[in-house]
Amino acid sequence: MHTLKATLRDAQQRGVAIGHFNVSDLVLLKAVFSAAQELKVAVIVGASEGERSFMGVGQIAALVKSLREEYDAPIFLNADHTHSLASAEEVARAGFDSIVFDRSSLPFEENVRQTKEAVAVLKAIHPEMLVEGEIGDIGSGSEIHDAMPDPSKGLTRPEEARQFVTETGIDILAPAVGTLHGMSRSMLQGESRKHLDIERIAAIRKAAGVPLTLHGGSGTDDADFRRAIAAGIGIIHINTELRVAWRRSLESSLASRPDDVVPYKILPPVVDAVKDVVTSRLQLFSQPAVAERVA
Ligand code: G3H
Ligand code: ZN
Repeated sequence: MHTLKATLRDAQQRGVAIGHFNVSDLVLLKAVFSAAQELKVAVIVGASEGERSFMGVGQIAALVKSLREEYDAPIFLNADHTHSLASAEEVARAGFDSIVFDRSSLPFEENVRQTKEAVAVLKAIHPEMLVEGEIGDIGSGSEIHDAMPDPSKGLTRPEEARQFVTETGIDILAPAVGTLHGMSRSMLQGESRKHLDIERIAAIRKAAGVPLTLHGGSGTDDADFRRAIAAGIGIIHINTELRVAWRRSLESSLASRPDDVVPYKILPPVVDAVKDVVTSRLQLFSQPAVAERVA
C-alpha cells in the first residue's frame, strides 16, 4: 500500500517533485486523477478549508480513498492551508494523508508554539499523517489579482527554517521563496512569470533537513521549477491555473451547447481542459532535475 512518506522520500531521491492540485468538485478530481494515472506518477489532491467546506471533509476523504484502493494508485489527500486546531483535528480523524497547518500570519514564536502543539495533537490522532508548517509570507487567495504584491518582503531565512523545524517537529516545511498565491492579469496573458530564489531554496533545504513544499506555483517560470526541484523542493502546489482552465472551458462548453441541460454532456470538456494543465505540470515536475542540482 502506498504511503505519502515513502513516496515523498522516493521522489527526493530521484530528484523529482510531487504535484499537488486543489480540487473543489468531482470534475477537478477526475481531471487530476486521470492525468496522474496516464503518466503513472504519484499525485496529491489538495483541499483548502473553503474547498473542504464545499465538498465535505468525509466526502473528499472517501472519494480519494476509493480511488487509491480501487486502482491501487499513489494518490494522496492533503488538507491545504488549515488555520485552526479544530479544523486540523477534523481532517486527522477523517484520515487525510497530510495537512498544511498554516499559522504563518502570526509572529514567529506564536507560530512555533501553535504548530508544535498541533503536531503533538494530530500525531496522537493519526500518527502517519504528515504535518507541514509554514513560515514567511506566501500571500493568500488562489485567484486573479490586478497585480501581485512584492514577494521579497516576507522571504524565509534558512536559520529561522532550521529553528522552526527543530522546535515544532514538523515533517514538511512551506517556506516563502519567491511565489505568492494566485496569478496577476499579466501572468494570465503569459506576459510575466513568477521567479524563485533558487539559492535560498537550497540553503533552506540544507538548514531545515525536511522536504520543502512550494506554494503559489501557478504562473511560475518552467526553468525556475526545474531548478527549484534540483535545489530541494519536494512538493509543488498548483491551484489558480486549474481554476482558470475550469472557468474558461465551462464557459466555452456552455456557449457551444446553448440548449443543453445535461451536466454529464456539458462537463467532459471541462475535465479535459483541467487535465491538460495537470498533465503538463506533472510532466515538468517528474523529470529528474539532478543535472541542474544547485551546488
Ligand atoms: O494553496 C494553494 C497553492 O499554494 C496554489 O497556489 O493558486 O498560486 O497555484 P496557486
Ligand atoms: Zn498554498
